[in-house]
Amino acid sequence: MSDRLIDRKFIALVLLAVSTTALAGGNAKDPVEGYRNLLDHAYLPPDFDQEDWDKLWTSWEKPAREKYEKATPAERHAMMLERYGFQDVPGEKRDLPLQYTPDGKGGWVMNCFTCHGGKVNGVTIPGLPNTHIALQTLIDDVRNVKLRSKEQLTHMDVGSVMVPLGTTRGTTNAVIFGVALATFRDYDLNYKPTARPPHMLHHDMDAPPWWNVKKKSHLYADGFAPRSHRSLMQFLMVPANGPKQFAEFEPDFKKIYEYILSLEAPKYPWAIDKNLAAKGEVVFNKNCSECHGTYGKESDYPNVNVPLDVIGTDRVRYDSLGRPGFEFYEHSWFNRTSTDKVNMTPEGYVAPPLDGIWATAPYLHNGSVPTLWHLLHSKDRPVVWKRTEDGYDQKKIGLEIDTFDSVPSSVKSPVERRYYFDTKQNGKSAAGHTFPDKLNEEERTQLLEYLKTL
Ligand code: HEC
Ligand code: HEC
Repeated sequence: MSDRLIDRKFIALVLLAVSTTALAGGNAKDPVEGYRNLLDHAYLPPDFDQEDWDKLWTSWEKPAREKYEKATPAERHAMMLERYGFQDVPGEKRDLPLQYTPDGKGGWVMNCFTCHGGKVNGVTIPGLPNTHIALQTLIDDVRNVKLRSKEQLTHMDVGSVMVPLGTTRGTTNAVIFGVALATFRDYDLNYKPTARPPHMLHHDMDAPPWWNVKKKSHLYADGFAPRSHRSLMQFLMVPANGPKQFAEFEPDFKKIYEYILSLEAPKYPWAIDKNLAAKGEVVFNKNCSECHGTYGKESDYPNVNVPLDVIGTDRVRYDSLGRPGFEFYEHSWFNRTSTDKVNMTPEGYVAPPLDGIWATAPYLHNGSVPTLWHLLHSKDRPVVWKRTEDGYDQKKIGLEIDTFDSVPSSVKSPVERRYYFDTKQNGKSAAGHTFPDKLNEEERTQLLEYLKTL
């Protein structure tokens, strides 16, 4: 063996040793750490404590209260989860549901899974939009309990008097929380308590699934914000968090970002007719790919922003942000690590990736369309619909629902009303996205089968 060969071998070995040490030393991407940060680290002040949680049932309506009193501990737990749209953390024994994080002092802190962790067909999947969340019902009950026990109110109890949290279960006014919180910040995120309240166009949204974030260059329905770990931190702008806390939390959010980018869409759990789906793929590539991209081996996602008059879906989300919101974001701390530019003039909404689309019903940014069949038949979409808790419609692909012409007059309490999705309300229109209407019934059946495979 020549000396030169030995040298090369030696260098290769040293390089290998260096690179494996680097990996073991924590430079490796560790998605699990990001997941644990969300479940175990509190980034906000608590909304309530264990004692309040145990008393929430006392502010329920009489029939529900009576049922609770007679129930076993296991039944009571299930009733609590159902009422507020929570789930247990999958695969682990934990006192708090997926949606809340303990602060170590008995307090319950809202986490990202409040809106970004949910269940489909009764199976809980972190990163799936929480299409059961009943935030307004929760905070109303909490405020009620605190007032009766003469406890101090916290940011959510007071804030929700000015900013509604969500008028339909499974959706939240999350974008306007962001608008309201940003008003009280300068670009470096210093708190300015004297700012005037902003113009707020309240509207409820169905959160997008996290597994698609890795395909997007820009985030949100209108795609204005370049993707970055800091963009994930906007939700933390409560008065208790100043520039110091944001800097302190940043390393954790790099891990949370890695976790989000590591997520994969869940697979359709029932049978798929492969021949029919193959025909559907042809229909899809001809009619849908230009906006939604292609899937399978040669996948590609074009990040297309579709003008509002072409897409024709509800416009309130589009109108709710606009130039002042984009400008704040562009100059703010949130955007300083981004390599891409803020899109200051989105024309409409971005066509989202359709990976795992079977699991993310209801559809469109406002969650107004209960199944994929209804998405493909724009004239047959229900005016008012109500889902069952865990039913999955394997024919229409999406939520199992009952439909109505209007919310039944027997529905009196706001808590009960939130179970009904009423497309006549402001911001909740199910119109638009009429592209599939030009297809015949056979093509749409093929397409529906193909959509199960994504
Ligand atoms: C109260 C509900 C709620 C909470 C809590 C919440 N989000 Fe969201 N999130 C939303 C909604 C609604 C959207 C869609 C907004 C839009 O498109 O304008 C969204 C959008 C996003 C997006 C962009 C997804 C995409 O495909 O464009 C990311 C990433 C995200 N949230 C991460 C987080 C993280 C991380 C947290 C916790 C720090 C969090 N969210 C907390 C409701 C919430
Ligand atoms: C001109 C571009 C365009 C074409 C063509 C198009 N779409 Fe879309 N699609 C969009 C946009 C934009 C949205 C988001 C609209 C919104 O949320 O308001 C969307 C939303 C969807 C959604 C709901 C996504 C979700 O997460 O809620 C599905 C499903 C969908 N499209 C399927 C299709 C199918 C199937 C076709 C072909 C028949 C198609 N689209 C053709 C632009 C397009």
